[in-house]
Amino acid sequence: MMAGMTTTNTEPRGALLVTGASGQLGRRVVELLLERGEERPIIATTRSPDKLADLAARGVVVRAADFDDEASLERAFAGAERLLIVSTDALDRPGRRAAQHANAVRAAKAAGVRHVLYTSLTNPGPESLIGLAPDHHATETRIVESGLGHTILRNNVYAEILLAGLPYAVASSKLVNASGDGAIGYVTREDCARAAAAALASSFEGKRTLDVTGPSTATQADVARLVGELTGKKVEYVPVDVATAQKNLEGAGLPAPVAAIYASFDAATAKGQLDVATDAVRELTGQPATSLADFLAQHRAALAPPS
Ligand SMILES: NC(=O)c1ccc[n+]([C@@H]2O[C@H](COP(=O)([O-])OP(=O)(O)OC[C@H]3O[C@@H](n4cnc5c(N)ncnc54)[C@H](OP(=O)(O)O)[C@@H]3O)[C@@H](O)[C@H]2O)c1
Repeated sequence: MMAGMTTTNTEPRGALLVTGASGQLGRRVVELLLERGEERPIIATTRSPDKLADLAARGVVVRAADFDDEASLERAFAGAERLLIVSTDALDRPGRRAAQHANAVRAAKAAGVRHVLYTSLTNPGPESLIGLAPDHHATETRIVESGLGHTILRNNVYAEILLAGLPYAVASSKLVNASGDGAIGYVTREDCARAAAAALASSFEGKRTLDVTGPSTATQADVARLVGELTGKKVEYVPVDVATAQKNLEGAGLPAPVAAIYASFDAATAKGQLDVATDAVRELTGQPATSLADFLAQHRAALAPPS
């Protein structure tokens, strides 16, 4: 076993802890803490410690933790003062994620954590049409009820999500979905990681909920126009109803439950539930959030029609 790869008898004190650290967001948060020269101990938890050997070699304390196993969480959280819960991707059965996150909140409290941070979703309340919203709402509620200091980071839709579908829109000259005229505050995963790292490392000890978004919102017609300008190919936005959008996604090969979740994002967008843009990224990090236009320009090559 490599140095730093498991719990030791000498617990780090006042540590910053990141869960789900082998995921794209969690790993990046840990890297950003290292890049900023964080002097407090950093603990990274994951179900797959072997995937974090490189971070352990850079001095990060890597611990095994599974959100389905509350005892493993309590052990893994020992010594943490501020703790970022990265929402899991366990979507196989309704309520599993909410139960996992509730385990994490209870374990944080039992381990003496002072401040909990959580990656939530824009407008996750009971009115949300998004299939994933109830898990986030339940988790936010558990955190508030815990009485712990907290920072809830309501991440808007990752700009990266667009890259999966846009090559097909370019190929067909049609961007087809059920978002209607609704706008989204697309935010890059990198900006979500920067915001989370800054909030985790900050001295804020109160209770707050922040909307983490890009600098402005964009409708699907805006997206189609931006893609057209970047590729030199005309792309038209074609609104359809939610059932058609879901069928199209299934036809493109997505499993039905996943297609239903994506289509629910469309339904929420059409109702204006993702139409949120704030300055939170700049306020937390001192640097503005990346605009959608800049993000797409940086990924111009990924917009090419699939071969
Ligand atoms: N705002 C958006 O548009 C958007 C888009 C996609 C996802 N998300 C959410 O943001 C989260 C992070 O995004 P990402 O891009 O980093 O996703 P990702 O790379 O798929 O990471 C998924 C994360 O879930 C964790 N996880 C799953 N099951 C777990 C379990 N039983 N115990 C502990 N951890 C578990 C993984 O941790 P380990 O494997 O390290 O244990 C990993 O960090 C996702 O999980 C999802 O909740 C948001």
